[in-house]
Amino acid sequence: MLGANLRGLVLRDGDVTLRPLRVRDTAALDRELMLNRAWLRPWEATNPDGFVSFDTRANIRALMAYARTGAGIAFAIEVAGELVGQLNVSAITHGSLSSAQMGYWVAQRVAGRGVTPTAVALATDYCFARLHVHRMEICIRPENDASLRVVEKLGFRHEGFRERYIHINGAWRDHLCYAVTVEEVPQGLLARWRAGGSDTP
Ligand SMILES: CC(C)(COP(=O)(O)OP(=O)(O)OC[C@H]1O[C@@H](n2cnc3c(N)ncnc32)[C@H](O)[C@@H]1OP(=O)(O)O)[C@@H](O)C(=O)NCCC(=O)NCCS
Repeated sequence: MLGANLRGLVLRDGDVTLRPLRVRDTAALDRELMLNRAWLRPWEATNPDGFVSFDTRANIRALMAYARTGAGIAFAIEVAGELVGQLNVSAITHGSLSSAQMGYWVAQRVAGRGVTPTAVALATDYCFARLHVHRMEICIRPENDASLRVVEKLGFRHEGFRERYIHINGAWRDHLCYAVTVEEVPQGLLARWRAGGSDTP
């Protein structure tokens, strides 16, 4: 299945907005990646072959091309209209699996304000409602307490442990795997979180 038409897509809750990343975000994204280098590096996916591209424009173009195949969506996370992070939905499959994965970061200066859980909930609800994704998965290094709090707050289920699963910051790293399926959030993930709890079994 080819990509959904993402033109004009805007997901919003309060002052947090998600919209597809675009080439004209290059300067703002470059700036955030530079300012937050030390903040992001321990959790950044790296290439086991050694080559890491710092060409932000080329990286955005590659993400947009990936989105056109229907396999993913790269969202800019904005707070009050300012780009402060990124959320990537990837590995979108349809048919009998109908699953997707998610990764994210925000600038250090907005950390701790619930921006990421809001963004994760908005994107998950969109994928469930509009792309017919049935299961959303997030994998996190056991050392990443802040990210573990994000899935905990949203009531993602712990599914298991994957050894040496993703190449992060220069080495293969173990990950904890979390997921939610559409049946668990009939009212939507954002609504469940806002209502003050998870109704996971
Ligand atoms: C993980 C991350 C995306 C969480 O985003 P966020 O928008 O800050 O999420 P929340 O506001 O829900 O905060 C989550 C936890 O971060 C911690 N935290 C809060 N303020 C913080 C700060 N200024 N600095 C570091 N951690 C902080 C708290 O433990 C918080 O949990 P709490 O709300 O129960 O106190 C963000 O810390 C980040 O971008 N980190 C670097 C990249 C990364 O780890 N990406 C995820 C890879 S799986």
